[in-house]
Amino acid sequence: MTHSPDAEITLTVNGASHRLAVPATAPLLAVLRNDLHLNGSKYGCGLGQCGACTVLIDGIAARACTIPAGSVAGRSIVTLEGLSKDDRLDPVQEAFVAEQAAQCGYCLNGMIMALKALTLREVAPDEEMIREALRYNLCRCGTHLEILAAARRACGLLPGGEPAPRPAR
Ligand code: FES
Ligand code: FES
Repeated sequence: MTHSPDAEITLTVNGASHRLAVPATAPLLAVLRNDLHLNGSKYGCGLGQCGACTVLIDGIAARACTIPAGSVAGRSIVTLEGLSKDDRLDPVQEAFVAEQAAQCGYCLNGMIMALKALTLREVAPDEEMIREALRYNLCRCGTHLEILAAARRACGLLPGGEPAPRPAR
């Protein structure tokens, strides 16, 4: 089945609705970056293998490079730009800043969005959940230790990965 390049689709991105004259088969990543100028999601492999393009679809981490834009019409799409509220960074973003967890920064969109999805589905993520959530996100700079530190901070764990003690009542 072919799609007319002039067909319109409606995407809901970061809470706003957009009618776009793009082919339904266009990769979501291309539409986000080229048509909506949301450049937080990065083009890494284009094959679903590196995680640089990760966005949230209905709160679940998804690889925008391999998702046809038309297939997510009507779903809630959240990009890195949609995480901050009232000019305040999301706690996951704040944790990366606090730990200075970046070298080139290219992988960070994927790391942050994968962790955001984890914190949305788990009340108290543990070390194993963090490692599983980030397992298929690649960092070519070797910043894994700092990224893990940021992830623990974002999930309320101590630097060694242990749960932080609950405050006494
Ligand atoms: S660019 Fe999408 S997974 Fe690599
Ligand atoms: S900081 Fe460069 S790819 Fe991760």
